[in-house]
Amino acid sequence: MPFSIEYGSDNGFIMQDSILIIYNGKIADEALLLSEYLKEIGIVSKIKASDKKEKGCIFLSKGIGADSVESYKLLSRRDEIVVLAPSRYGILHGIQSIRQLFIREYKGVGSQLPAFEINDTPKFRWRGMLLDCSRHFMDKEFVKRYIDLLALHKMNRLHWHLTDDQGWRIEIKKYPLLTQKGAWRKDGKGGKYGGFYSQDDIREIVAYAGRRGVMIVPEIEMPGHAQAALAAYPQHSCTAGPFDVETEWGVFKEIYCAGNDSTYTFIENILSEVIALFPSPYIHIGGDEVPKYRWEKCPKCQKRIKEQRLVDGNGLQSYFIGRINSFLKTKGKQLIGWDEIMEGGLVEGAIVQSWRGFDAAQKAAKSGHATIVSPTSHAYFDYGLNEIDLQKVYEFDPIPKGLSKKEKKLVLGAECNMWSERAPQEKIDSKVFPRILAMSEVLWSNPKKKNFVDFKDRVSKHYSILDKLGVNYGMENIPVSIATKAADDKLLVELQNRDSSLTAEYSFGKSVWKTYSKPFEITEKDSLKVRFRRGQKEIDFSINQLLNPHLGVGKRIWQNYKISEQYTADIIDGKRGSNNFKDGNWQGTFGYDVNVVIDLGKMTDVKALGAGFLQYNNAWIFFPKKVDFLVSTDGKNYISVGQAFTKIDARDKREMTQEFSIAVNRKIRYINVKGYSIGRCPDWHDAAGSPSWIFMDEIWVEGKKEK
Ligand code: ACM
Ligand code: ZN
Repeated sequence: MPFSIEYGSDNGFIMQDSILIIYNGKIADEALLLSEYLKEIGIVSKIKASDKKEKGCIFLSKGIGADSVESYKLLSRRDEIVVLAPSRYGILHGIQSIRQLFIREYKGVGSQLPAFEINDTPKFRWRGMLLDCSRHFMDKEFVKRYIDLLALHKMNRLHWHLTDDQGWRIEIKKYPLLTQKGAWRKDGKGGKYGGFYSQDDIREIVAYAGRRGVMIVPEIEMPGHAQAALAAYPQHSCTAGPFDVETEWGVFKEIYCAGNDSTYTFIENILSEVIALFPSPYIHIGGDEVPKYRWEKCPKCQKRIKEQRLVDGNGLQSYFIGRINSFLKTKGKQLIGWDEIMEGGLVEGAIVQSWRGFDAAQKAAKSGHATIVSPTSHAYFDYGLNEIDLQKVYEFDPIPKGLSKKEKKLVLGAECNMWSERAPQEKIDSKVFPRILAMSEVLWSNPKKKNFVDFKDRVSKHYSILDKLGVNYGMENIPVSIATKAADDKLLVELQNRDSSLTAEYSFGKSVWKTYSKPFEITEKDSLKVRFRRGQKEIDFSINQLLNPHLGVGKRIWQNYKISEQYTADIIDGKRGSNNFKDGNWQGTFGYDVNVVIDLGKMTDVKALGAGFLQYNNAWIFFPKKVDFLVSTDGKNYISVGQAFTKIDARDKREMTQEFSIAVNRKIRYINVKGYSIGRCPDWHDAAGSPSWIFMDEIWVEGKKEK
């Protein structure tokens, strides 16, 4: 949605299969780019430089304005299309608007556009997407394709995540092992997985992006997320290794040694080569998720803390970032880091990328620092649609609360983050699209015109453009939500439709597929499968939900611990979780024991009790070390009816669930379930010493079967 558009009463531009592009000003290459785009649509063009328009032409005219000015005017009249802009960036946006219009409307000679005048300018100047090419390597051509798709949607930053624990992806001439070793990890099948971009590849990609007005901001992670680098050069760690390039996902304790001067030299030499490759005035140095465990035990790091009179590991992190910041300044570059770089005190002139909510962005702006906002709540496109759907992204407002007018100006804009742990190249389209359309409008369009219904309508028209460009977009949302209600000892299941263009079909357990029309009852624990049709066409999306009817569903409940704001699932709704802790069925608590009381409302014959938990130690989630089950008839005096344990080792790296259950066989009214946390992450763990999570999906109350 442009900032403003006015339609004329006359006819607009009539398209031909050959067209004259006339450009005025130093924009020969921009004119060429437009002709390349038109060629893709099947329109041939001639290009000429002139300050005079001709009948039937596309006229591009650049004034003299700063590159920071991205505005443009676009006119469609019967005999001409005109783009006027003060800078090449405005011209490029005009060209992308023409491209969108032509892809959608060109159906052969004589196709007609409406007459209009667009006056357009972006809301935010930083409109980015992070692409994680470390966790999964993506081909050079794929990266270029994404840059082009960003430009098409008037996004102007590619935040290129090039290094992490699982792979180093950028050739550094001085340190060849970074890619010889660091770009490859074991693939679990006796082979290797990986890849990297040569410096020639990088130059090619940078030029491709520059041509389209997209700035690539490279991210070189430090001091954490550095295990691939340390696998190649272990002397820059606290322990000297040896290490492998990491094969699991998570946060790992092997980080750069901050007490070792040669580490800084190593990093500065790397950054020097990075700076020579990328014209971006910004360098992103990561800085997120740095376990301080190694630093706490490293004599060199401890010595540095003392010498520099730092308080602790956070202080050392600030010192580290400060040194890199000073180095970048000598090269005329500005440092960007994730919000953790604030933890030991923010270094002068750094830009903060706020990802753990909006607080860091607010704090950064209040202290006079520029900030980029990409909160997990709205901007993490690796998350599923159950957490972030199209509407959620559209509702995103990058400006944190409580900022003055002047402070708001420090919010440069936002990014959507496409982390790729669970998204190899072939899955990226379906995660990024259509959600990036919402991000694009949030960052570009006039917020006063924000209207989701109107936006959805534009999205549905935009699909024809994505289809023509071969974008394999995913769903806008999960088309139904599964609502459950207690009905005596049965569970009433309702599929609440969120997308009226789809028909839902379901199968429960081994039942045949039926078209859903109204709520249905179930009595057994089994899987509900839901699939969708649009007309006769099957949609490539389905839901598989384990349902568990029991006597506790919908009863009164007290939960005496702090439930995470992110993992808030109802634990007496009869909906069970999968092995994916983000599936929406899990409740999480960080650093607490769980302690739940349920009132069944009346004396009830109970056969058994159970509680479901999940373990995934890479995400710091462990089974409880013990689960206590207590019961009461009056809600005052409780007796223990048993305890349940796990046989699974806390070190077991799998994502898995376990049911902790005991027999009861008595009449009771109140139930108290206590799950005891293992406490802090154990010494062997990569987050040793940090609090741990407990994840619970359900507490169930099994009655005596009367049949
Ligand atoms: C992040 O998601 N760790 C920045
Ligand atoms: Zn150290």
